[in-house]
Amino acid sequence: MNSLANKRILLGITGGIAAYKSAELARLLGKAGADVRVVMTPAATQFITPLTLQALTGNRVHTELLDADAEAGMGHIELARWPDLVLIAPASADFLARVAAGQADDLLSTMLLATRAPIALAPAMNQAMWLNVATRDNLQSLAARGMHVFGPAEGEQACGDTGPGRMLEPHQLAEKASALFESGLLAGLRLVITAGPTREAIDPVRYISNHSSGKMGYALAAEAAAAGALVTLISGPVALPAPERVRRVDVVSARQMLDASLAVANDCDIFIGVAAVADYRPANVAEQKIKKHDDTLSLELVRNPDIISTIASLERRPFTVGFAAETEDVDANGAGKLQRKKLDLLFANHATSTFGSDAIAATALWSDGSTSLGPGNKALVARQMLALIHARYLHHVEPAVRT
Ligand code: CTP
Repeated sequence: MNSLANKRILLGITGGIAAYKSAELARLLGKAGADVRVVMTPAATQFITPLTLQALTGNRVHTELLDADAEAGMGHIELARWPDLVLIAPASADFLARVAAGQADDLLSTMLLATRAPIALAPAMNQAMWLNVATRDNLQSLAARGMHVFGPAEGEQACGDTGPGRMLEPHQLAEKASALFESGLLAGLRLVITAGPTREAIDPVRYISNHSSGKMGYALAAEAAAAGALVTLISGPVALPAPERVRRVDVVSARQMLDASLAVANDCDIFIGVAAVADYRPANVAEQKIKKHDDTLSLELVRNPDIISTIASLERRPFTVGFAAETEDVDANGAGKLQRKKLDLLFANHATSTFGSDAIAATALWSDGSTSLGPGNKALVARQMLALIHARYLHHVEPAVRT
């Protein structure tokens, strides 16, 4: 069920005895890596409490259409835009009838009218209700509108009858939900990406830094998350918003970036150093603003730690990818860095052509091969880079897989 990693699932629960199984479903979806939010109809809350679902998903459960508090948080339209999939389990006969009629008389039915996400229904009801022509017609019309119908199963029912109408088991529903998503290239892989410049303080108002907009690292983070990876973005100061579904850790100096990287390095599969780390920092940071007295000012600088080399030298090291922005001899300097820093893969490019710009071309280098990527915008090249990173990563963890 890898393809649920990072997916946003809105679980709708309607009033029926099978609602007790929705708790297990919410747990399984969460376990498979999905972010789950729950919307319950008023009738559903008679069968299972919102608190149970809140505890299992870690998210507030939505029950009311006209709830000023909830609207101040994630309003119903925002909630309708949020998911990658809306899964209604159980879907009662009454709920199916209301959706078929296009009603919007509670939060969940309103969501279904407002959302553009795919919708899956897991009917659950007494066998006579299921077989009733009104229910059959409603289902047919909902399926004709493109909604997916999961189940129901046949068997013993809570009311004592035997026949069709039992909700599928939670694990079956989770598998069917997973099958709706194509497996992302990086599904479930944990990526750490450093991005942006670092700033090394000279005094309270001045610093040394590098040119770096952060665009390349942010593009990689956004594309990796879209491909199903769980991404931590360790970012120096940049003027970019955090990409969706990416955990961003803000840092300022090289040493802070190193600490943040070491804190997550053991729990990551792939580490990508895109940051333009300042190689030196002032030996002493003046406590007060330095006043001008003489015509010249000397600063003593000391070496900063090399973050990516430190990560690549760890005993349990992740697959480590570096970047090299060079102003001359791009390929030769890149190859030297690949070896010196013990990297698995390195993307080398011409420094001046990339700063702040949206277009990029790069040479990818690894121990026994190379290829060129781009030119293209950073999102496109980021996708090419991730495809290559994934191929080389597979080669690294499963040497038998020839790529
Ligand atoms: N890097 C790092 N820590 C540093 C310096 C660089 O992790 N203190 C990483 C960068 O994020 C990048 C790679 O090392 O992935 C190459 O960065 P670059 O600045 O080109 O390398 P330097 O080691 O600084 O080499 P140079 O002597 O050319 O400045």
